[in-house]
Amino acid sequence: MKGKFITLEGIDGAGKSSHAASLCAMLRAHEREVRLTREPGGTPLGEALRELALNRNMHVETELLLMFAARSQHLHEVIWPALETGAWVVSDRFSDASYAYQGGGGGIAQAKIEALESWLHPGFAPDRTLLFDLPADIARRRARRSRAADRFERQDADYFERVRQRYLQRAKREPDRIRVIDATQPFDIVARQIEHSIADL
Ligand code: TYD
Repeated sequence: MKGKFITLEGIDGAGKSSHAASLCAMLRAHEREVRLTREPGGTPLGEALRELALNRNMHVETELLLMFAARSQHLHEVIWPALETGAWVVSDRFSDASYAYQGGGGGIAQAKIEALESWLHPGFAPDRTLLFDLPADIARRRARRSRAADRFERQDADYFERVRQRYLQRAKREPDRIRVIDATQPFDIVARQIEHSIADL
């Protein structure tokens, strides 16, 4: 792949979506061609699956399969073609979110998620993942202010703490790919850390 693939992760309310836009602006200022996208979603089919996953009640395994169904389409239709042309792809969430939410939050065994990952994108991972970390109670207060809650955002603090811990566990295991950013800091400081975290790319 000629381009670079950067993903943003963290619990709801961590502020990654606002930083995604400023990261793209920064990359464009460095004359990179950039494609900003998100999961679940990123394609017309993926957005339809997102609508279902975020709003319909379902078993957590169904939820996991919908996430990977949307992801599969996203990879074939958007991510891989863009990377092939040399563009940089910035995705607001990717497979780490399935490990954190459906695994950590929902309790699905890691081996099942690994099986889907190695089926759908064997050997392919983000070049860098920025993990926006903050305590669940602070994230919750932020998220509540911004809009009506979807099915995930209505989960309790316990769920989000499990999601957070699973993300941190993954970051510990892959420190080179996953960089933890303290998302309680002011916007400008976080933006500077993002720039620093991808400088070597
Ligand atoms: P999010 O980035 O929070 O969208 P928004 O900022 O517009 O609310 O993503 C939507 C939700 O999808 C989020 O609560 C986490 C969930 N999700 C999973 O549970 N598993 C996944 O694999 C992905 C990609 C997302």
